[in-house]
Amino acid sequence: MAVEILIPSIIKVGGGAFSDATNILKRLEVRHPLIVTDSMLLRLGLAESLRAQIEKAGMAGDIFSETVPDPTTDAVAAGLRAFANGKHDGLVSLGGGSPIDSAKAIGMLAANGGWARDYKVPNEIPKKGPIHLAIPTTAGTGSEVSRFTVITDSETDEKMLIAGAPLVPNAAIVDYELTMSMPARLTADTGTDSLTHAIEAYVSRKANAFTDAFAMTAMKTIWAELPTAFHEPANRVARESMMLAATQAGMAFSNASVALVHGMSRPIGAHFHVPHGLSNAMLLPAVTAFSVKAAERRYAECARAMGVADRSDSDADAGKKLVAALFSRNQELEVPSPRKFGIGEEKYFSLIPTMAKQALASGSPQNNPRIPTSAEIEEIYREIWN
Ligand SMILES: [Fe+2]
Repeated sequence: MAVEILIPSIIKVGGGAFSDATNILKRLEVRHPLIVTDSMLLRLGLAESLRAQIEKAGMAGDIFSETVPDPTTDAVAAGLRAFANGKHDGLVSLGGGSPIDSAKAIGMLAANGGWARDYKVPNEIPKKGPIHLAIPTTAGTGSEVSRFTVITDSETDEKMLIAGAPLVPNAAIVDYELTMSMPARLTADTGTDSLTHAIEAYVSRKANAFTDAFAMTAMKTIWAELPTAFHEPANRVARESMMLAATQAGMAFSNASVALVHGMSRPIGAHFHVPHGLSNAMLLPAVTAFSVKAAERRYAECARAMGVADRSDSDADAGKKLVAALFSRNQELEVPSPRKFGIGEEKYFSLIPTMAKQALASGSPQNNPRIPTSAEIEEIYREIWN
């Protein structure tokens, strides 16, 4: 079956690529962009240095820095006002997944009107938004190359998955030097998000030969380099490897979809404000254990690529080794359980049926090698509690 692959038309990769942002905007004929970022990057001066770079080239840029983690419909509405009031002709997102996802939603609403919830999966986005250059400052979400945005409905707390070709940024700058100051926790969480993208893309029912290649190389790199980036934040080789792998994993999952881990992870994030990569990490070993028998060969190939099993292992044994390795990696990266994270027990257990329903509604579990029932999803939520 033919597959359609969508990626940005320009992806500039490497240390120092950030200084090329203005050239890329010029090539894309953007003259007056809105820089969408967050308060942290504003404080660090990175947003301002981007604006200075743009102004030096004789263009004008404004900064919108009120994006929030787990971007909400309210924060997107504020960004949309800034975009419209400033009469901007393009968007530059600068930050982790949240500013990039926010910029995607701002562009989508600028072009199509309505509300973010009008476009949640399985609804379609009719028109492409303004030109969007995405500049990630974490090695993680892959949002800079993906066709997805996740926006939390401010009224219902639902994390809505929105998908479509119009959301793929026109260009991405993948510069690992922007990630050098990431703290260890953020490094671990965003890195595990990338690992989850690679593994889920590889075992997804929508996997294809194009995405397999990116998924494989990404998981191999992330498995080898993430502990180094976590323990030695100044290690440039590890940072550079992680940054490229995160984008490769992004290209893989954007064109093959994620699966059950992401489906179950979004509700945890929405209801309990657990960072996205961390809720993925809480789920990845248990969901892999649940799924492994349904795609033994594919999981075994992951295990061998990551070096936790070899050719002498049967597929069944390699799958078991993968599950064990994921559990022990979580220990090494100090991933807490929902209970240890500080989530209230009563609220967690009372919300399990709702979370299961929301997970299924996102469509992601249906890409999983083993498609779960609602009861099975509920069981996994209970299993990971401790
Ligand atoms: Fe993710």
